[in-house]
Amino acid sequence: MKVTVVGAGNVGATCAQRIAEADTADVCLIDIVEGLAVGKALDLAQAAPLVGHSRLITGGEDYALAAGSDVVVITAGVARKPGMSRDDLLVTNGKIITEIAGALSEVAPEAIYIMVTNPLDVTTYIAHQALGAPRERIMGMAGSLDTARFCTFIAQELHCSPGDVQAMVLGGHGDSMVPLPRYATVGGVAVTELIDPERLAQIIERTRNGGAEIVSYLKTGSAFYAPAAAVAQMVGAILRDEKRILPASVLLRGEYGLDDVFVGVPVKLGAGGVEEIIELDLTKEELSALHTSAEHVRSTIARWNEMKNA
Ligand code: APR
Repeated sequence: MKVTVVGAGNVGATCAQRIAEADTADVCLIDIVEGLAVGKALDLAQAAPLVGHSRLITGGEDYALAAGSDVVVITAGVARKPGMSRDDLLVTNGKIITEIAGALSEVAPEAIYIMVTNPLDVTTYIAHQALGAPRERIMGMAGSLDTARFCTFIAQELHCSPGDVQAMVLGGHGDSMVPLPRYATVGGVAVTELIDPERLAQIIERTRNGGAEIVSYLKTGSAFYAPAAAVAQMVGAILRDEKRILPASVLLRGEYGLDDVFVGVPVKLGAGGVEEIIELDLTKEELSALHTSAEHVRSTIARWNEMKNA
């Protein structure tokens, strides 16, 4: 099994580390900056005898290195600085993703693609356009990260193990994301029975701002440990054919009453990529919040298309 990670920065290099050290696949890192991917791959490879895995980790600048990949993860692009929204990255990252996806469509047309670069739902759309891959083979990583943030804050509130918290965050990867407290449980107990509504609303708000909170501390970049862990979980689900139910940004064609837009919904991930889109029976309010979030993604896609054609 081979995974190519494009972008050997904070998120990309940490993804490579998690994928190789979990013994999931061989990893190839690609970055436009000369020597960066080669150097990081060498460093990661030299940890293998210490960590105890036998995965091959290579790197370089040439997209041709991605040939033969089962999964390609795209993390290339610029990250947020304090005060920036994810949408502020659109112009720069939109161009980068168009170029990368165009090159990869030649060398790894059969791979399953996981997008990470922000603004996530829009870069997933851009890559989909450039790759021409069927919707089962292209998805964005966001919902599993947003869900992990939600679970972490719930666990901190209840002083319980984060591993015992299950939840689901839908919608676009931005301020309009839709955490679903109705579907959150702790050891099987509904979270709404354990945390009062006012406190839960604060936790939801903190989840929505989870990325910005980290940017405000780091100042020069954005989160990468949890994003890389979320990617590694998705890669593992695909390569080990785990059939995991996780939220991911996928192209909807009528599901949830939404058409032709990428937005986060629960999916089943296995060897075929997105093997199923799971339609939850949402309340009117939840569905309306999902539609508002999808409309935001749709308007950013429209803005991108106008800029691209101008
Ligand atoms: N081809 C390959 N690599 C590229 C290209 C390109 N055309 N353009 C930029 N890169 C590389 C940069 O050289 C850099 O090494 O992408 C890497 C990005 O790394 P960081 O700046 O450390 O950013 P990171 O924190 O990894 O975030 C990357 O993921 O979570 C999102 O919002 C985040 O959009 C951002 C992306």
